[in-house]
Amino acid sequence: MLRSAFQKFISKQLAKPSGLFGRFFTARILEQVNVQMNAQSLLHIAPTEGDHILEIGFGSGQLLDRILKSHNSATVAGIDISPEMVAVVSKRLRHHIKIGRAEIKEGGIESIPFAPGYFTKLCSVNTLYFWSNPVRALAECHRVLQTGGKIILCFNAKKDMLSWPGHKHGFRLYEVAEVADLLMNSGFGDITLSSDQQQGQGLFHCISATAI
Ligand SMILES: C[S@@+](CC[C@H](N)C(=O)[O-])C[C@H]1O[C@@H](n2cnc3c(N)ncnc32)[C@H](O)[C@@H]1O
Repeated sequence: MLRSAFQKFISKQLAKPSGLFGRFFTARILEQVNVQMNAQSLLHIAPTEGDHILEIGFGSGQLLDRILKSHNSATVAGIDISPEMVAVVSKRLRHHIKIGRAEIKEGGIESIPFAPGYFTKLCSVNTLYFWSNPVRALAECHRVLQTGGKIILCFNAKKDMLSWPGHKHGFRLYEVAEVADLLMNSGFGDITLSSDQQQGQGLFHCISATAI
């Protein structure tokens, strides 16, 4: 009973880190457990000169930080529904925000607060489980990407998540083929996939696709 209540609390924190626990503990947990997923996502993003890259659901901000450090002219923007994560990452990236290389906003994937064609690349790691409307979410991603722009989604697949009881508390699970289908039906093509193991969490997948 107590164990299930704690599991539910953690699942809710992962979906939207909140309060002091979110700010100080969830952010720290995310920073430590998703290292390989963020590293693999960075390989797919491969920042280059002139890139303007959006991350959706940045959590502790590790991937945005890695992108900024991996290329000295790429610029980034990030949105997250959690005011606590927005505060944590605004502080973490304050230098880059000050010099105009980073922009951090509160917002959700279902209504991205940026103009059409604003980005060259868009990434989102461990968030698709929480999208209230995946079709609308991907339509929004397509809208803010330039034609030829790239989307990168990194996640654990349904068959691997089912063994973790926390998924029952609000996680929507997908197999890799379902995500690929959703992308193709949302105006994306050229789909590529890479899969790897994350310590303690098992197999994960990164799918990249091009906005056509
Ligand atoms: C499990 S955490 C992953 C954080 C980070 N990407 C990582 O992998 O370490 C999910 C993050 O996505 C955010 N999030 C959840 N639903 C979202 C949505 N619909 N739009 C934007 N962000 C969302 C949460 O607030 C949280 O910071």
